[in-house]
Amino acid sequence: MARKPFHLAWFISRGFGPKAWRLPWGGPNPKGWTSPDLFVDLSRALERAAFDYVMIEDSSNIPYTYQNSHDIYLRYAVDSPKLDPAVLASFLIQATRRLGVVTTLSTTEYHPFQLARLTNTLDHVSHGRAGWNLVTGSNDGGAQNFGLDRQYPHDQRYDMADEYVDLVTRLWESWDADAVVMDQQNEIFADPSKVHPVHFEGQYFRSRGPLGAPRSPQGRPVICQAGGSPRGRQFAARWAETVIGTARSVASMKAFRDDIRAKAREAGRDPDSIKVLFLITPIVDESRENAEMRRRAQLEDASRHLDVHLASLSRTSGIDFSKFDLDEPLPELKSNGHQTLVAQYSGRTLREISGTGKMLSDVNLVGTAQDVAARLSEVVDEVGGDGFLLMDPDLTRRYIAEITDGLVPELQRLGVVRTQYEHEQFRDNLMAF
Ligand SMILES: Cc1cc2nc3c(=O)[nH]c(=O)nc-3n(C[C@H](O)[C@H](O)[C@H](O)COP(=O)(O)O)c2cc1C
Repeated sequence: MARKPFHLAWFISRGFGPKAWRLPWGGPNPKGWTSPDLFVDLSRALERAAFDYVMIEDSSNIPYTYQNSHDIYLRYAVDSPKLDPAVLASFLIQATRRLGVVTTLSTTEYHPFQLARLTNTLDHVSHGRAGWNLVTGSNDGGAQNFGLDRQYPHDQRYDMADEYVDLVTRLWESWDADAVVMDQQNEIFADPSKVHPVHFEGQYFRSRGPLGAPRSPQGRPVICQAGGSPRGRQFAARWAETVIGTARSVASMKAFRDDIRAKAREAGRDPDSIKVLFLITPIVDESRENAEMRRRAQLEDASRHLDVHLASLSRTSGIDFSKFDLDEPLPELKSNGHQTLVAQYSGRTLREISGTGKMLSDVNLVGTAQDVAARLSEVVDEVGGDGFLLMDPDLTRRYIAEITDGLVPELQRLGVVRTQYEHEQFRDNLMAF
């Protein structure tokens, strides 16, 4: 490959939940969403296309932020229901051999010991392919399921998460890498001197340790992070190995990535040890006309179902958007949830955000596979590197094939993405370029 390739990953938005259940191309049995089959097919396709990882989004509650009611969320399956992502992860691991599998687990919903144990197990059973999407929670309804009145304040959640990851890391590393001896002759399973209680006493968490199982193949699962507020970026620069960015323009992608890299340097880390991937939702088809037609159909569907989009925005922000005029530019809003997303709303109308919210304002990713591949390659050149995370809110096998068997071969022809994995473990592949 003449130039440094970039990375590809896939974001399963709305987690282990129903996908295109009310739309065409949902498959022979769109009611079968509680089965892992669609996601298994997705993961196999991603591995065929040599993606770095698949990430399973998650949240634990049936929201009620919009109109103070869970009606819209349940009627249209907005951001819910969702089954447990860690259970799905084990099916995806079983179906693949090289793909990284990233599970979303919230620091406000799992005790650090439980999380260290679960992710250590996933890393063992995948032979070093587990990742953790490290989230701190955003919706008050989620916190209420776990006995709190509301989420802790935004920046405090990150302070707590700093301590949390410190503890989890100590637990992951509480067995030395060579602690398991399995010496049959002398009847020694593990060398007791190489397994260490952690005796952690923090401001928020306590744990004795050691972890109940040996160090996992990667030592620590790959940490993925998605919060882009100032405090979120500082946190990412300290802990993350891959960051999910949402940006509306190429210039803001570049600014975001440059900032994460600068903060990583300040934190004493090599900026190349963090791969910043941007969320994109391209539409590829045989011809530009077909692709444009599908884009128009998506916009029409969005305008017929504005309440679905508003309910989703309300969940992530904690702001009830039923109280705002659809055609008035939004003021500056304060959110205790996803601050980065909310910052991107001010000055725009809800109608516009609901239609084009996920589109880039200055790059058209709607066209033939050749068109889109060429544009993605230009975007990475301008941004400086790393890659993309693909997402379609209405996941279908048709869309999966268009990306993995249509777009990716074009990217490979351009020589801008890998054609095969370099390594067996997730982190090694992620850090290969
Ligand atoms: C693309 C993207 C994906 C996210 N996925 C999840 C998720 O699966 N579960 C979750 O609880 N939070 C998720 N988040 C929320 C973030 O991890 C973070 O908690 C939130 O954006 C607030 O952080 P910020 O204000 O620093 O942006 C996601 C955010 C983004 C932008």
